[in-house]
Amino acid sequence: MTIHAERILVTAALPYANGPIHLGHLAGAYLPADLYVRYQRMKQRDVVFVCGSDEHGVPITITADKEGVTPQAIVDRYHEANTKAFERFEMSFDNYSRTSLPLHHTTAQEFFRDFHARGILTEKKEQQFYDGQARKFLPDRYVEGTCPVCANTEARGDQCEKCGTYLSPMQLLNPRSKISGAVPEVRETSHWYFPLGSYQRRLEDYIRNRDERDGWKENVLNYTRGWFKDGLQDRAVTRDLDWGVRVPLEGYETKVLYVWFDAVLGYISSTREWAAKAGTPDAWRRYWLDASTKYVAFIGKDNVVFHCIVFPAMLMAWNDAHTEQYVLPDNVPANEFLNFEGQKFSKSRGWGIYVDEFLSRYPADPLRYYLCTSLPEYRDSDFTWKEFQAKNNNELADIFGNFVNRTLAFCARTFGGILPARGELDSRDQAILDLADKTPVTAGGFMEAYRFRDGMGEVMNLARAANKYFNDSEPWKTAKSDPARCATTLNICTQLVRTLGILMSPVIPATCERLWAMLGLTGSASTQAWDTAGAPALPAGHPLGKSAILVTKIEDEVIEQELKGLGASADAAATSATNAPSTPTATPATDPPKDLITLDDFKKVDLRVATVLAAERVPRSDKLLKLQVEVGTDRRQVVAGIAQHYAPENLVGKSIIVVYNLQPAKLMGQESQGMLLAASDAAGRLVILQPAGSIESGSKVK
Ligand code: 2FM
Ligand code: ZN
Repeated sequence: MTIHAERILVTAALPYANGPIHLGHLAGAYLPADLYVRYQRMKQRDVVFVCGSDEHGVPITITADKEGVTPQAIVDRYHEANTKAFERFEMSFDNYSRTSLPLHHTTAQEFFRDFHARGILTEKKEQQFYDGQARKFLPDRYVEGTCPVCANTEARGDQCEKCGTYLSPMQLLNPRSKISGAVPEVRETSHWYFPLGSYQRRLEDYIRNRDERDGWKENVLNYTRGWFKDGLQDRAVTRDLDWGVRVPLEGYETKVLYVWFDAVLGYISSTREWAAKAGTPDAWRRYWLDASTKYVAFIGKDNVVFHCIVFPAMLMAWNDAHTEQYVLPDNVPANEFLNFEGQKFSKSRGWGIYVDEFLSRYPADPLRYYLCTSLPEYRDSDFTWKEFQAKNNNELADIFGNFVNRTLAFCARTFGGILPARGELDSRDQAILDLADKTPVTAGGFMEAYRFRDGMGEVMNLARAANKYFNDSEPWKTAKSDPARCATTLNICTQLVRTLGILMSPVIPATCERLWAMLGLTGSASTQAWDTAGAPALPAGHPLGKSAILVTKIEDEVIEQELKGLGASADAAATSATNAPSTPTATPATDPPKDLITLDDFKKVDLRVATVLAAERVPRSDKLLKLQVEVGTDRRQVVAGIAQHYAPENLVGKSIIVVYNLQPAKLMGQESQGMLLAASDAAGRLVILQPAGSIESGSKVK
């Protein structure tokens, strides 16, 4: 049976700080985790939600080598970028940590030291490839060669990406070092092994009684059971690398812990960091070390073995010798993969879209809503631009937004923005109130079972029913023929607006806060109690707030631009796919430079950092936006041709670069006192230029 615990620990897989996160990551682990947490907080449960950057591992050192920078520079770059991307996506982590923190190193070393001291780990001598030129042992991904199964000449030492076979470097034909390209020699080294095999029986017991009734996904269980069938093997938990958590043993200074050994413990160190930051350094214990905690680990399907087998075994090993017992995951709701326009996301082929790029063009909520409706909960699903537009326009705007706006507009027009009283209820009124009352229960049942598509689907069904109720009640007629009836209808509709604002807030939090203010309410939609959301709580006479369009539609031209850009990426992806995988993605030919200018010419342009204070469309123009910007202590109005690329509300608060000494000009009757800098490509995409870090507005750009 599913545990309805009052204390819940939620973790989401720590993404590698090796590149920007894309939409597939969001649909795999992060959005489901955030929906669950937001829902559980509204159920008034004691929740802690942690994540962070996974900053170790060979992919990071390989990227650093490729760029000729330190691994630290790589992880700093992507930790910052991904932290921001998650913030913009409205992830509600209690803590987003990083595994390069000393606190994490100590936590991971504490586990290793404990296992070593208790004789759990065994040291094994083994033959490993060594690059004589670079004078380094080569961990698996540092060796490339020909796949013995499919003859792919670019197979990696851990896996052949072409046929999917898991490999060890020694199985590769014609092996070569990724560092120098040299043929590696074989040398002896030694590594510490964790005896996973000896935990198999207990792990089988742990998984045995789980089934779909507990919300465990069949795929997760089958995959885990498949590992048992093959028999669990001991696993090396050290590597010959100089980037990672040092092996805390004398004589092993050249070795680090295997990235997965430390990464899963990153959940514990992130919770410890959260507790320390809150000034209650022991608070993490009540989540991790109390048997009444329900621990839920959200991941993508490629991480199942580490969360259903390796991590539980490590925790069991610890628990065997300590009075304080770590909780094991109560569930590991792993999603399948999200594809992008019919193909896998691929960094090397330039296929897909990064979160940050997406959110520079659209607000988070339409994306959250669309991804929620198409989460790969049981099978792979697909992101398409057309569906994104359709979900935003036909559901979010036409059903939900329309109901909210028509209700509030009617109240403003007919009742002066004051909530009218309900009179006697007829059966139609009663039916919709009953549905509102029931929806937190039905939707909540799905949310508890990790079925977020269905959970939020129930809430959208309430919005559909609410629209129908409005139509069937015909308040525009009863306003004259039966004012008391009309008042009852509008009272109920406004109560439903409130109910929807609360129940939709896990998926579209920012929109629901705007809705809350339009209702004239203080506080926040997302801190209301879930269970009572369906009850009509607004008193007659309540003054409603100022309303505005809640959900903006996405125009066809905007999506056409995206699809055009996709054509360019598809060409690039096809070009790179037909070449060797290491060939960089083809880029369009660069235009020749304009006539040369001197440095003095360039210095005539006064470029400044500015902050956008407000933004709106220019009336009768589908291209222009009017921005009010702050440049230090100065305020300016800048008109820019970016309306087809940016929603105005998305620009507020952004730092941009403006030409500060451009002669003022009038565009569509509006004065522009400067120009913002933006880049556009051959595919018609346009992005505004922003400082890469935070800096005061008014700062000079040189
Ligand atoms: O697959 C990944 O992106 C890994 N960095 C996930 C790690 S999850 C946990 F162990 F930290
Ligand atoms: Zn292969």
